[in-house]
Amino acid sequence: MKILIADKFEEFGVSALKESGCEVMQDPSLEADALTQAMKKTACEALVVRSTKVNADALDASPNLRLVIRAGSGYDTIDTAAAAQRKVRVCNCPGMNAVAVAELTLGLMIALDRRIVDQALDLRNGVWNKKGYAKARGLKGRTLGVVGLGRIGYELAKRAAAFDMNLLYTDVVQNKNIENQLGIRKVTLDQLLAEADFISLHVPGGGDTKHLIGPAELAKMKPTTFLLNCSRGGVIDEKAMADAIKSGTVGGAALDVYEIEPAATDNVFKDPVVDVPSVYGTHHVGASTDQAQMAVAQEVVHIVQTYKDSGEFLHCVNAE
Ligand code: MLT
Repeated sequence: MKILIADKFEEFGVSALKESGCEVMQDPSLEADALTQAMKKTACEALVVRSTKVNADALDASPNLRLVIRAGSGYDTIDTAAAAQRKVRVCNCPGMNAVAVAELTLGLMIALDRRIVDQALDLRNGVWNKKGYAKARGLKGRTLGVVGLGRIGYELAKRAAAFDMNLLYTDVVQNKNIENQLGIRKVTLDQLLAEADFISLHVPGGGDTKHLIGPAELAKMKPTTFLLNCSRGGVIDEKAMADAIKSGTVGGAALDVYEIEPAATDNVFKDPVVDVPSVYGTHHVGASTDQAQMAVAQEVVHIVQTYKDSGEFLHCVNAE
């Protein structure tokens, strides 16, 4: 079986795929037309991607293509509908990087509360300001509102419970087991927006969640509330959020994802939202820990192996 990996991928995964008899070609620089050309040239049966976007042209380029694997959880970078029309199945690796994303989110919560980034920058500039930075509110007894109690939301809530935080969530489904385990309470989005001191978004990207947090939602938050987004950029209306922070309607924000992100091979980023004081930005690295990338690679190998052995598509997200 021929597999094209069009992104960075754990060496372990490449070796395991080769050991299982696959012919593996890898080029992390492939994007847009270059991806389409590589698909044509390799006539691969499976394509593995992380950040690389997959459009209809790329899907059409390999006549043998049956499977696209997203080496991660979200799949909004892949045209799943076009793939379904061509009977190409798209599979993802759900949950494998949930702990990593939860860890980053919790780190950002503490960073916002203690203003760790500003403190470090001041020290680098030779400024000592113990008095100015002595105003943290702390996490204990504060309320965390989790929007989307899937695998990542759960891992975050579990960790926040260990910090003695009060927990609220909103989701389309109610999860009594997690409620009993963590003492987390299901509320409406409006209630969560009004009550939470930290609001963390853990919903999939795409049309349904586009600007889930816009001007109306921001207006319902407390002026001290911190908003966190380690899910997908479009879930927050960035411009409205920047305005809300500048006007003092919202306390601050931490973002790992942005409405427009550079391609994996590009190292220039210009988004005015990260210039707003009280916005801490990271580089879409929520999933980027050794533990998570190893787990994702193992799952990709598992998906390929299952397909080879039985023709079954594990974690298929665009089944008929
Ligand atoms: C995900 O959807 O799981 C993350 O975006 C993964 C990644 O950064 O590759």
